[in-house]
Amino acid sequence: MSIQEKISKKFEGIQGGLFAKVSKADVGTALNDLIANGAALMCWADPFYPDPAIPEHVKKATLEGLKDGTSAHYTMPIGNMELKVELDKKLKSFNHLDVDPERNIIITPGSDAGLMFAMMPFIDEGDEVMVPDPSYPNNFLNPKLLGGVTVPVPLREENNYQIDIEEFEKRVTPKTKMIVLTNPNNPTTTVLRRESLEKLAEFAIKHDLIVVCDQAFEDSVYDNVEFVTLASLPGMWERTVTVFSISKGMALSGYRVAYIVADDHIMDVYYGCAVSVIGATNTACQLGAIAAVKDSAFLQEYNKIFDRRRKVVYDIFNSIPGVSMAMPESTFLCWVNVSKLGTADEVNAYIIKEANVVVNSGAPYGAQGEGHLRIVFGAFRDDEKMVEALERVKAALIKLGKEKGVS
Ligand SMILES: Cc1ncc(COP(=O)(O)O)c(C=O)c1O
Repeated sequence: MSIQEKISKKFEGIQGGLFAKVSKADVGTALNDLIANGAALMCWADPFYPDPAIPEHVKKATLEGLKDGTSAHYTMPIGNMELKVELDKKLKSFNHLDVDPERNIIITPGSDAGLMFAMMPFIDEGDEVMVPDPSYPNNFLNPKLLGGVTVPVPLREENNYQIDIEEFEKRVTPKTKMIVLTNPNNPTTTVLRRESLEKLAEFAIKHDLIVVCDQAFEDSVYDNVEFVTLASLPGMWERTVTVFSISKGMALSGYRVAYIVADDHIMDVYYGCAVSVIGATNTACQLGAIAAVKDSAFLQEYNKIFDRRRKVVYDIFNSIPGVSMAMPESTFLCWVNVSKLGTADEVNAYIIKEANVVVNSGAPYGAQGEGHLRIVFGAFRDDEKMVEALERVKAALIKLGKEKGVS
């Protein structure tokens, strides 16, 4: 038996680019050649990339732990207690979750690891996991890696990507165990309205389902749209695992600090296997995170930048024949409909070739992602650099439109 044949069926089809080229921007070394060729990267949900952006007080707190030597050592695998206490204050005031920092919070090295960890104790072979489509690509892959079955549930553009509970009802079976939700959603930027979440909560309770709710993007919501934390709705606390991150709104992605919040019966299992799955989160970075959560006023400055940019980006894309986008409701991402110009992969490849800008094809975000691009307008510290790259994208799309006879 070859070594490949010994690899679990759960990992079938997974490739990291060592034997065949992969195009997904966050896999293996897919982007190395493009970076070497000076491409502008607008494909990582990493605000201000590649320019530096660490608030001074966060930098100072991170460095203090290095100077005094504290950071040479582990924290408890479940996380720095002072950080958990600071997060507890934010969870009470922003998320309306009345948690106990000693029993309901665990720190994880980023929320990618956190999402997988959150699902792990629940998924047995063949369990079905409902994933709204379009969604963050990991949501489709993670159930499969754990032996489960991913069941995509379409969200429709014409419905502003809100929850259509009929679509969930049609797909629920006795094997359905979980829903994995991203709110606000990546890639669509949709903020699920209270009504959508209440219907989803009713559905989850009726069918006795667990919900893993990823709120990595909760910090940046515009136009005073109400942001509701699913776990705060009646009957949802005991069945919802909420995953948070400091990577997105706080632009501290390299810190690799995130946290999971759940009822203590669930948390007891996470606490019990933390050391064998996640080890512990970086000590210096947890010290920086304490400062960031304690004084998070910089979020307002960042959101002002993103809010300004989303309007510029909206005008740019809606001025291109055959291209359209809705105003982003949250985040520093935009979701652009290019279906009149070709498939998502084709248009994406054309932009790389013509504009030397890397954006994301909508295809990995699910069947509903076809014909769309996800573009990170939060890239670069200066608006001008970001706009200059998008003007190149615009010129490429206009050229492609002319070639395709779109006007
Ligand atoms: C929706 C969503 N969740 C989670 C993550 C993971 O973020 P991190 O591991 O940096 O916390 C990402 C990263 O792009 C994301 O888009």
